[in-house]
Amino acid sequence: MADGSRRESWASRLGFILAAAGSAVGLGNIWRFPYIVGENGGALFILIYLIIVVLIGYPLMVTETAIGRSSKRNPVGAFKALAPNSMWWLAGALGVITGFVILSYYSVVGGWTLSYIFRAAAGAFEGVDHEQLFGDHVGQTWAPLIWHLVFMALTIGIIAAGVVKGIQRWVQILWPVMGLLIVLLIVRAVTLEGAGEGIGFLFLGAEDATVTGRTFLDAIAQAFFTLSLGMGVFITYGSYLSDRDNVPGAAASVVGMDTGIAILAGLVIFPAVFAFDGDPGAGAGLAFITLPGVFAEMPLGGLFGTLFFLLLAVAALTSAISLLEVVTAWLIDQKGWTRAKAAATLGVIIAIVGIPSSLSFGAWSGFEVPNIGNLFDLFDWIANSIFLPLGGLLTAIFAGWIWSTRSTMDEANKGERGLKIGGWYAVVLKYVIPIAIAVVMVFGIVDTFV
Ligand code: TRP
Repeated sequence: MADGSRRESWASRLGFILAAAGSAVGLGNIWRFPYIVGENGGALFILIYLIIVVLIGYPLMVTETAIGRSSKRNPVGAFKALAPNSMWWLAGALGVITGFVILSYYSVVGGWTLSYIFRAAAGAFEGVDHEQLFGDHVGQTWAPLIWHLVFMALTIGIIAAGVVKGIQRWVQILWPVMGLLIVLLIVRAVTLEGAGEGIGFLFLGAEDATVTGRTFLDAIAQAFFTLSLGMGVFITYGSYLSDRDNVPGAAASVVGMDTGIAILAGLVIFPAVFAFDGDPGAGAGLAFITLPGVFAEMPLGGLFGTLFFLLLAVAALTSAISLLEVVTAWLIDQKGWTRAKAAATLGVIIAIVGIPSSLSFGAWSGFEVPNIGNLFDLFDWIANSIFLPLGGLLTAIFAGWIWSTRSTMDEANKGERGLKIGGWYAVVLKYVIPIAIAVVMVFGIVDTFV
C-alpha cells in the first residue's frame, strides 16, 4: 500500500462542501427528480422523500465521511484499515465496481446534454416532433458515442489534475455558473402565463396522487442516487479532510444544497410544463422531450433552452468527476499508480464499457431484458436498485455493529461546531437504516420481477 503521507487535502473548508455538493447535484436533481416527482403526483411524494433524506440520507453521509477521514483511504483501503484481516474490504470493492458501472452510462447521458446545448442554440427545437428528435439523436451510432467520449475526456482531464487543482478548482468555477443559470431559468419559468398551476403541483400535489409501497421505493432510490450515497464517494472525499473539519455541519450543507437545487429544478420545469400543457408524468423524457417542446413555444426559447442544457451538463460534470475519483483513488492508494495514469486508464476503460449503453438506443435496441429494459436500463437498474442500497446497508451495518457507533460518532464529532451527532444516531445506524433498506430492496426486487 502506498504511504498516506503525500495524500492531498482540500485547500479550504469550502473545498469539501463544494466538491461534495457538486457530486450530489447532478442529473439526479435536474433530470431525474422532476420526472420521478411528476410520475408520483407531486407534493406528497416530495414529503416522503424529504423524510427519507433526513432519516437515512444524512446519517449515512456522516457515516461514510467519518470512515473516510478516519482511514484516509479509498473505499477498499478504508475497510481494510478499520477492519484488518476481515472480508469487509469487499464492501469497498462493491463501491469501486458501482462507480465504474454508474459512470459508464452516466457519461452517455452527459453526452446527450452536451449535444442538446448545441441543438438548442441552433434552433433545432422549432417545428419538429420532439420525441422523434430525441429518438433520432440517441438512436444514431456515432454522434452519441462521440459526445460520450467528449464528456468522459472532460471528466478525465479534471481528475488527472488532482484534488485541489482539478476537483476543487473546477467546482469553485462551476458552482457560480450553475447558480446563475438556475436563477435565470426560474425567473423565466415562474413569469410564464399559467405558471401557477406548476407551482401548485410542486407544493400542493395532484388531486389524484396515491401512495403505495412503490412510492417509498422510488423515494429511497432517488435519495441514494441524488445524494451520491452507497458507493464510497463520501469515504473518498472525506479522506481528504482533516480533523479540524466539521463533518456534521458540512454534511448538513451538502444535503441542504442538494435538496434545494432539486426543488429549484422543479420550479423551472413544472411551471414551464404546465404553462404549455405538457404532461408532468412523461417520465425519463421530461427533460429531453417535453422541455424542448416547451422551449420551442416560449419567447426566447432558444436562449433558455441553451442555458438549461448547459446547466444540466455542468451539473453532470461535477458529479461524474466524483465517480471517477473513487476508482482513481483506489488505484493510487492500493496499487501505487500515478494519478494521471490511473485517471486516464480507468476513464478509457469506463468509456468503452459505456458503449453498449449508448448503442442500446439504436443498433443494439433489439436486446431486451424482461421486466428491466434495454442494456442502458439494465446497467441503471443493477446500480441503483441493487448496488447502491446494498452498499448503504453494508456501510450502516459496518459502522453500527463492527467499527461501533461510538467510534463512528467520535470521529464524526471531531471538529464539530454546534451541530453535533447525538444519541439518536446509534439507533438509526444499527436498526432503522438496515431494516428500512432491506425491506425496500426485497419489495423492489419482487415488484420488478413478479
Ligand atoms: N448524485 C449524482 C446525481 O444526482 C450522481 C452521482 C454522482 C452518484 N456520484 C454518485 C450517484 C455516486 C450514486 C453514487 O446526478
